Amino acid sequence: MDIGMRHFHVTAVIFLFLFMLFKTILLLANNTILLDKVRKTTKIIDILLGVIAVATGVYLLTLKSTVESYIWVKILLVLFAIPLGIVGHKRQKKPLAVLSVLLIIYAFAVGETHSFKFKRDQFIVTKPDQAGKEIYQALCVECHGDDGKKGLYKAPDLTKSVLSESETTARILYGKGIMMGYKNELNDQQVQQVMDYISTFR
Ligand code: HEC
Repeated sequence: MDIGMRHFHVTAVIFLFLFMLFKTILLLANNTILLDKVRKTTKIIDILLGVIAVATGVYLLTLKSTVESYIWVKILLVLFAIPLGIVGHKRQKKPLAVLSVLLIIYAFAVGETHSFKFKRDQFIVTKPDQAGKEIYQALCVECHGDDGKKGLYKAPDLTKSVLSESETTARILYGKGIMMGYKNELNDQQVQQVMDYISTFR
């Protein structure tokens, strides 16, 4: 359910963005006749896709235990960029349309890298005696749950993981699919600490 919702959200957003980009290109190419035609024919689809993107986005937000600040920034950027694009295309203002596309690309990058500057800060442990647990609770619990079994976005049950130590290290450093890698955020010692912690689940 959660993974289907995520795909649904991503698909709606991609189509919305492609329509927006196409209209901006038409505007930049001064093809205003075609632009008007495209605007009129895609209007209903645009609204429908917009509603789907927002509804699925809100649903995905409700799955999160904490909503990090980068997510709020992403939402605000998009909510600002869309009306900007609509006005830009309607009044044929090129800078507005281009700004809107750039803002959406930036919002996407912020969402993917979980950081405003596309690079996450090194994780700082505040309770060294329970570093593994602290890292896990801060970075992993959202999808894997307190006991490793939550399985958000089809995350495997960590109590049943059969990966070797080196495979597990690689998964944490580089991620796979929806799980992002933590190579910028965690140093070697911290990766080891969180691995030691999850091995207590097995
Ligand atoms: C956004 C959700 C999400 C977060 C956050 C997350 N994971 Fe994952 N994790 C996944 C998913 C999804 C997979 C399955 C990836 C695949 O094989 O396609 C996975 C796979 C794994 C695996 C491999 C398990 C196996 O048997 O295949 C390990 C180990 C793991 N995660 C540990 C962690 C650790 C440690 C953290 C925190 C540092 C973390 N994960 C954060 C979603 C997440």
